[in-house]
Amino acid sequence: MTADIIRTQIRQIRLESEATASFELWPVGEQYLPSFTPGAHIDIHLPGGLRRSYSLINNGGEPRHYNIAVKKELESRGGSSWFHDNARVGMTLDISLPSNDFELIENASHTILIAGGIGITPIISMISRLIELGSSWELHYCARSFAHMAFRDELRSLANCGKGAIHLYVDNLADHKRLDLSAIFGSAASTAHLYCCGPAGMLEAFIAAAKGRQPDTVHYERFAAANAAATDGGFEVKLARDGRTLSVPEGKSILDTLLDAGVDVPYACSQGICGSCVTTVLDGIPDHRDECLSDEQREANKSMMICCSGSRSKTLTLDL
Ligand code: FES
Repeated sequence: MTADIIRTQIRQIRLESEATASFELWPVGEQYLPSFTPGAHIDIHLPGGLRRSYSLINNGGEPRHYNIAVKKELESRGGSSWFHDNARVGMTLDISLPSNDFELIENASHTILIAGGIGITPIISMISRLIELGSSWELHYCARSFAHMAFRDELRSLANCGKGAIHLYVDNLADHKRLDLSAIFGSAASTAHLYCCGPAGMLEAFIAAAKGRQPDTVHYERFAAANAAATDGGFEVKLARDGRTLSVPEGKSILDTLLDAGVDVPYACSQGICGSCVTTVLDGIPDHRDECLSDEQREANKSMMICCSGSRSKTLTLDL
């Protein structure tokens, strides 16, 4: 085990809503868990070589354990079904150190948090921190129904112990109020910061509503890809260090092709979201489909996410 990997044990599993369960991960033996900032996530190494990222829910100051929540997905890519069908109290899991791509700005005049479904998970630790700071905040939380709304009671208690307010929205009640992003943005002070984590449609609406606002006051985190992966195939990948040239067939990503050929490359989300599979491009023009690189990085064509991006040129030469 490397210093970057921590062995943990599942000590508690709790049903948080009709389709969401939370898992408490405690360090094994003498290890301690590093602190983390609100919005942080860990990668969990699951059986079968799967690696999946999950937001940390609990307070990150001096954590004795890490708490994550996993939604039961009908079309699971492996992580959700493993946790819901196989995970048991007492099992051990290797995890990465926490990292954070969704940082909370702590000196905002007001914080507006918008969550959809399981997107509530990074938001909960943000709320705990805002309460610690005595800051003012409001949460807008959407779910299919109240039965699908994980952590509803905890959120109500959090709203009672600080300068916070929660607004809940459910899809299954026709006369229930609906999330109105333009009204939220319209009434937000210029010094307020807005955060969103939820499904792709919600994020697109959030990004559209944020147009014209100071970009550094707007923050979001994706947990599903906005673009379809490039799986048209019909090009070759030259591996500069390995020496081999591989044909990428229709229906497969570059990552699938490399794994099939026994090339060991890091990856986690397989959706172009997490950045784990970033690879240096030495020659050729990628067909970028990720959510990680900036526009400048995409235009430079010097790096790519091999899990979801393809090639516009007949051959891509990668630094592998
Ligand atoms: S594996 Fe997450 S971006 Fe490629």
